Amino acid sequence: MSLGRALVLTISDSAAARKREDLSGPEAGRILTEAGFDVSGVEVLPDERFDIESRLRRACEEGFVLVVTTGGTGLSPRDTTPEATLAVIERAVPGIPELMRLESFKVTSRAALSRAVAGIRRSTLIINLPGSVKGVRECLGAVQPILPHAVATLNRSSLGCGE
Ligand code: MTE
Repeated sequence: MSLGRALVLTISDSAAARKREDLSGPEAGRILTEAGFDVSGVEVLPDERFDIESRLRRACEEGFVLVVTTGGTGLSPRDTTPEATLAVIERAVPGIPELMRLESFKVTSRAALSRAVAGIRRSTLIINLPGSVKGVRECLGAVQPILPHAVATLNRSSLGCGE
């Protein structure tokens, strides 16, 4: 049975301008499909904070249980995915990026350079991932086992983790 509809957003000026092929978004989509989500598609957006915000808001209205972004989490001036996400979420889920970084530190100390955040708006969980295919694999691999429980509890009013 499907865990629900998921959307992947690749945030990259160069991929949006078709100067490079987006490999990270499809990789995130593949991992989520394998995990049991019904991935509606991969969309590519430039690093424009307000465009990212409005796409995230609309995705929450469209009833996606999960939105995963890839890219725009670093330190360059154009990297604003975390700011756009923080503007949209109603409740933060800090444990998700904590877990991603904890596992990523075992592979690269550069994991500290991703400012990725995660949180909830309405019944949608939004998770930022770094932009590289390697970063997508490592970070999504770290949190993928907890996603079924996360999306299940999101849509229930009274059930806790033990139920
Ligand atoms: N996390 C993991 N697991 N693996 C990686 O290769 N790359 C880092 C970091 N997080 C990386 C990672 C690097 S080099 C950068 S600059 C930041 O993610 C931000 O990447 P972004 O700007 O493409 O989102």
